[in-house]
Amino acid sequence: MRILVTGGAGFIGSNFVRWLHERGGSEYKAERVIVLDSLTYAGNLANLDGLDAHSSFRFVKGDIRDADLVQSLLKEERIDAVINFAAESHVDRSILDPLSFVRTNIEGTQVLLNVSQELEIPRFLQVSTDEVYGSLGPTGAFVEETPIDPSSAYSASKAAADMLVLAAWKTHGYAVSVTRCTNNYGPFQFPEKLIPLFITNAMADQPLPLYGDGKNVRSWLHVDDHSDAIMKVLTKGTAGEVYNIGGGEESEKQNVEVTQAILTILDKPSDLVKHVEDRLGHDRRYAVDYSKINKELGWAPSVPFEVGLQETVTWYLENQSWWQAIKSGEYMKFYEKNYAGKLDTAVGN
Ligand code: NAD
Ligand code: DAU
Repeated sequence: MRILVTGGAGFIGSNFVRWLHERGGSEYKAERVIVLDSLTYAGNLANLDGLDAHSSFRFVKGDIRDADLVQSLLKEERIDAVINFAAESHVDRSILDPLSFVRTNIEGTQVLLNVSQELEIPRFLQVSTDEVYGSLGPTGAFVEETPIDPSSAYSASKAAADMLVLAAWKTHGYAVSVTRCTNNYGPFQFPEKLIPLFITNAMADQPLPLYGDGKNVRSWLHVDDHSDAIMKVLTKGTAGEVYNIGGGEESEKQNVEVTQAILTILDKPSDLVKHVEDRLGHDRRYAVDYSKINKELGWAPSVPFEVGLQETVTWYLENQSWWQAIKSGEYMKFYEKNYAGKLDTAVGN
């Protein structure tokens, strides 16, 4: 299979490419893997270190909205599957700058889709999110039929993209799939998201800014389990269908629990935790029913959260130069300007 991976220099895309080369190879033969990534603040060539050694791998810097570039790549590389990871992915940023989310997540997806459909690329997989379903109360879980009800400009833009992708199936019979996954964690995650931010802050004895009461619930999935699910949907999924991907009940944790687990692993004091002003429109709880992908495609999560979290903390301990380079760069200026002020309103731990 010859695959175009957009957004492959980001967190999940880069883990996916590495997984495909190093672990997925026994089940999935990827003859050629082309990463197309515009290298926004979240894209990082260091995430792809070592992959150049594989002759099947190629990196191309470019934007998914560049139809000419996408068209020439798809033709030149005789691509037979497009997997669209490229996105603006951070909810907090979508509150500050919703337009950039519209541009990449909606317009970009449609450009990619148009060109892929015109060139009759056999499969198109849209990597989406459980956030399109909105927020849950204390019980229940999202199924594929749950009505979409996004809360943020991030999730609204992802929901719009899902609708455009599914419309290509309904209108043209173009063979698309949409996957909706819950929160991922693992190596190479940009330190603006909860787990890598809190691990790296705790390592540096910096405060951990926990939003609101800290009791919002997320279901956590190791990024390698997500990669496996994507390849199962790509190769065996029914065209035109949505597949939910989640970590199961055991992976559902309140943010305070995740925070405490990180502090315990690092042997750091709990007074590093600062309860700060809540995120606007903060979804209370996500939980995903993954029985469809389980029954149809035989997928289930394999990495228990406690094991995966320990490994992830170890990765950040062993790769300090990777995250220190990010935290000493432009990102930190943005973070300090927009978020660090929240610590002024902190109400203790
Ligand atoms: P990320 O922010 O780490 O990476 C996104 C990548 O896309 C970056 O490398 C960036 O440079 C690239 N990119 C952005 N705009 C682009 C454009 N216009 N053209 C080309 N490349 C562009 O994001 P992530 O966490 O790896 O998420 C990847 C995908 O998975 C996203 O579509 C996201 O919505 C989805 N998702 C993420 C999670 C999660 O927990 N992180 C969970 C479910 C779904
Ligand atoms: O559910 C899937 C989604 O998970 C993906 O679609 C998104 O791309 C991904 O970013 C993630 O969204 P969240 O908003 O759930 O992730 P984040 O890591 O930003 O926040 C996780 C929880 O932690 C959330 O309840 C907000 C809280 N939080 C986050 C940060 C960054 C804090 O309390 N403090 C923080 O500093």
